Amino acid sequence: MLDPGNRLKMAAAMVRPGSRVADIGTDHAYLPVYLILKGTIPSALACDLRQGPLCNAQKTVAAYGLEAQITLRLSDGFDRIDPSEAEDFVLCGMGGTLMAQLLDRTPWLKDPAKRLILQPQSHEEDVRGWLLENGFSILREDACTDDGKLYACLTAAYTGTNSPVSPAAPYIGALPQCGKPEALMKLKKTRDRLRLKAAHCPPAQAQTYADILKELEATIDALSDRS
Ligand SMILES: C[S@@+](CC[C@H](N)C(=O)[O-])C[C@H]1O[C@@H](n2cnc3c(N)ncnc32)[C@H](O)[C@@H]1O
Repeated sequence: MLDPGNRLKMAAAMVRPGSRVADIGTDHAYLPVYLILKGTIPSALACDLRQGPLCNAQKTVAAYGLEAQITLRLSDGFDRIDPSEAEDFVLCGMGGTLMAQLLDRTPWLKDPAKRLILQPQSHEEDVRGWLLENGFSILREDACTDDGKLYACLTAAYTGTNSPVSPAAPYIGALPQCGKPEALMKLKKTRDRLRLKAAHCPPAQAQTYADILKELEATIDALSDRS
């Protein structure tokens, strides 16, 4: 059995059993191979922008004899995926800014039957912010450590929700509901990063950063009291 590590296992746990998965930016295809070997999903598209990563994917797929279940595809984001081909869409290990750009040019994702599973490598606030501004709800968020690094992963669906959110919401997401110590650690790391940004930001942005930090710190205090 393939062990894809804690980070990809966290993302895999958010995939709905029985769904068809498109893994965007698959590289080595560990996630779809793991999900099929586990019996969670029947089939998957393993997609990447570049030929090199797709060759890595091909080797993994061949090593486990899963050519009939996994289709390899060159695709920039969702560009060469038809909406009818998958229900669950996974993006792991990319920056949150790139994820938001890829989602923004794919209007057919605004379908309540589809799920997004997103594990941003950086700038999580960009992708959470995009989701919250575009009618998606963050259904669940998780956090873990893998090889000494902290990661967060969320699952979202289009609900058409249009309620205003606080400026801190993209920095916090649904991590407080996760209940794991890693979620608190991740929020503290975000706070430290924001404190640095706030210390060097133009005066016009100082109040916004102060407001975000105030809410973030209150969230961290409340979670620390609980644990
Ligand atoms: C750091 S790897 C992550 C691999 C795997 N998803 C994981 O989390 O272990 C990022 C992958 O995303 C791919 N990628 C970058 N931009 C992309 C885009 N616009 N569309 C599809 N794949 C992209 C890269 O080629 C690379 O293989």
